[in-house]
Amino acid sequence: MTTSVDNTASAIAHTNIALIKYWGKANEKLTIPYTGSISLTLDKFYTKTKVTFDSQLHADKLFVNGTEQTNLKKAARVLNRVRQLADTNSFAKIESENFVPTSAGFASSASAFAALAGASAAAAGLELDKPALSRLARLGSGSASRSIFGDFVEWLPGDNDENSFAQPLENVTLTDIAVVAVKVNAHQKTISSSEGMKSSAQTSPYYAEWQNVVNRDIVNLKHALTTNNFSLFGQISEANAMRMHALTLSSLPPFTYFEPGTLEVINEVQDLRAQGIECYYTIDAGPNVKILTQTANIPLIKDQLSKQFSPTKISVAHPGPGIEVIKH
Ligand code: DP6
Repeated sequence: MTTSVDNTASAIAHTNIALIKYWGKANEKLTIPYTGSISLTLDKFYTKTKVTFDSQLHADKLFVNGTEQTNLKKAARVLNRVRQLADTNSFAKIESENFVPTSAGFASSASAFAALAGASAAAAGLELDKPALSRLARLGSGSASRSIFGDFVEWLPGDNDENSFAQPLENVTLTDIAVVAVKVNAHQKTISSSEGMKSSAQTSPYYAEWQNVVNRDIVNLKHALTTNNFSLFGQISEANAMRMHALTLSSLPPFTYFEPGTLEVINEVQDLRAQGIECYYTIDAGPNVKILTQTANIPLIKDQLSKQFSPTKISVAHPGPGIEVIKH
C-alpha cells in the first residue's frame, strides 16, 4: 500500500524566550507546572517539522537535521496522544529541521515540540484549535505550549490536562522589543531543564516563595506590557531570571547553569546601563545570555559586546509569529 498524501503535514513553530520562568512541574507525566509563565516568541529561530503517518512502519522514526534520533520519549508523548485522538495505530516518520543560527545558543525544544504538535495533529487529520495544540505541545515540553502563539504569551498553569495551556497576552502596548543573544557556550547542558526543575522543586528551601514571586511578577509584567513601560518590563524580567537561578544555587546538591562568560555578559549589561543605554538580561537553563532592549540601542550594544565577544556569537531577534501548519 502506498502512503496517502493526506497522512502528511508540516508545521513551522518559532522558539520563545521566557520572561517569567516556568521552573517546576506539579504533574510530570502531563507537564502541569506549579506556576504560570510569560514568554516572547522570536522571529529568527524556528523549527520546521514534517510528519507522515504510515501503516507500514513498525515504530516511530525521528530525524533531526537529517540525523536519526534514538531518544523518542518526549516525542512519543505527543504522538501517542495524537494516535489516541485520531483513533489510529499507525506509527509516524518525523523529519525536523532546526533553523537556529549557531550563534544564538537557543534551546530548540520549545519550537521543536510545538512544530511536532501542529504537524502530527494535521497529518492525523485532526482539526485542533490553538489551545488544543498548546495542550498537545505541552506534553512534549512545557515551554513548547507557548510557541503555538506569536509575540507575548502566557501559559496558564491550570491543574489538569484540559486547563493547562498558553494564550496570547492581550492589550500589549510595548511593541519595540529586541533581543540580543550572546552565545557563551554551545555544549549540551549536563543537567536538563526537567532534571533541574525537579531538583529545585524538591530540595530548594526557597521553592514555596518562588511560587509567590512568580504570581506577583506575572501581574507586574502584564502591567508593564500594557502600559508600554520598557524599564519596568526589563527590571521584572531580569529579577525573575535571577530568582530562578537562585533556585538552582539553593538546591541540594547545588548546581548552576552559569559559566564565566555568563557573568561577563551580565557585567557588560550593567556597564551599558551605567552609560545610559537601557538593557536587561535574562538567562534560561543554560549559560547563554539574552539581552532585552529596544531597537535604537542594538548598534550600541553590539559595539560594546564586540570588544569581548566575536560577532559570530551575537545575534539579534525580534518578536515572532505563532505556528503555521502546512497540509500536503
Ligand atoms: C528555564 O520546557 O525545556 O527555559 O517541560 O521539562 O521539557 P520540560 O522543560 P522546558 O523548560 C524550560 C525552562 C526554562 C524556563 C521557561 O522556558 O519558562
